[in-house]
Amino acid sequence: MLNNFWYAVEHSQALATKPKSVVLMDQEIVLYRQSSGEIIALENRCAHRGTALSGGWVEESCIRCPYHGWKYDYDGSCTEIPANQPGVSIAHRAKLRAYPIQEKYGLIWLYFGDLPAQDRPSLPPLPAFSNPNWRTVRGEFTWDGHYTRVIANTVDMAHAAFVHASAFGRKEKPRIQHYELEQEAWTARATIHFKTKPAHFLKLILGNSPPDGSITSSFFLPNITQVYHRFGNIEFILFLAHVPVSNEQTITKWLHLRNFVTHPLFDSFMKRDVAKTFVQDNSVVKLQPVGPVPKLRDELHVPSDALELAYRKLREQYQTTPIAGKS
Ligand code: FES
Ligand SMILES: [Fe+2]
Repeated sequence: MLNNFWYAVEHSQALATKPKSVVLMDQEIVLYRQSSGEIIALENRCAHRGTALSGGWVEESCIRCPYHGWKYDYDGSCTEIPANQPGVSIAHRAKLRAYPIQEKYGLIWLYFGDLPAQDRPSLPPLPAFSNPNWRTVRGEFTWDGHYTRVIANTVDMAHAAFVHASAFGRKEKPRIQHYELEQEAWTARATIHFKTKPAHFLKLILGNSPPDGSITSSFFLPNITQVYHRFGNIEFILFLAHVPVSNEQTITKWLHLRNFVTHPLFDSFMKRDVAKTFVQDNSVVKLQPVGPVPKLRDELHVPSDALELAYRKLREQYQTTPIAGKS
């Protein structure tokens, strides 16, 4: 994982009153909502016997371990050991790592690093989320692959002709036009234009003479990719948070935002289309070697890989030189 970045790890609505664990590269973290509604994230191992606190319960700002009832406050410090006689002090080591949290776009973002608040990177923009003319649906998908392979797939410009041939990909038109990269500190994007071959639900909307389309793909370190589609006036966005579960597994918490047929009645069509697309993508991701993308020099690259390469280069750069504080 890259240090000093915000990771989107869960949908806000998935965390109600019960604590919930999320796994980031085999490390378990417990999320819980204080009675005020604010979310707390602590390492999910009781300092006593390693019990998962996600099996416990919330008491105001605190979480209590289900085994012997040790109570931990929002900063991870243990504030009560019920079996102790009065006056027995609590060891300083009875403290769990606490992670800064924020909620945005209906997602829970966890800060994995040690920089003070003012030095942390900002979250990606998503203006369509608060635009009343757009409708958002959300879901999740489990991949059989490392999150860097999943990210590489979702910003890959050349696979649709093959992987999505039975849907929107056109096997007879595999060439990718030269595209320009627009790159900033921890993001890059690229746009390609193409003749539309709408699939799934879009076919019903766009009919037999669809307008030309364009796709703008982007990534935002460490774990967000976004695909923006436009067909004439029809626009939709896939905003994807790829949760790095382990070397073999990634869970993508996704948002699909659209500016057409915004009635909730159509939500299930959108969800189905997203799921179908991910199933096709996963069919090739799971055929790749287990673990993270290798060093660039260990694979071959062609011009259409430019956006994916930008991701891999930036990732390598921040792996060797993590973001540093300004002060
Ligand atoms: S294991 Fe958590 S209180 Fe004993
Ligand atoms: Fe794909």
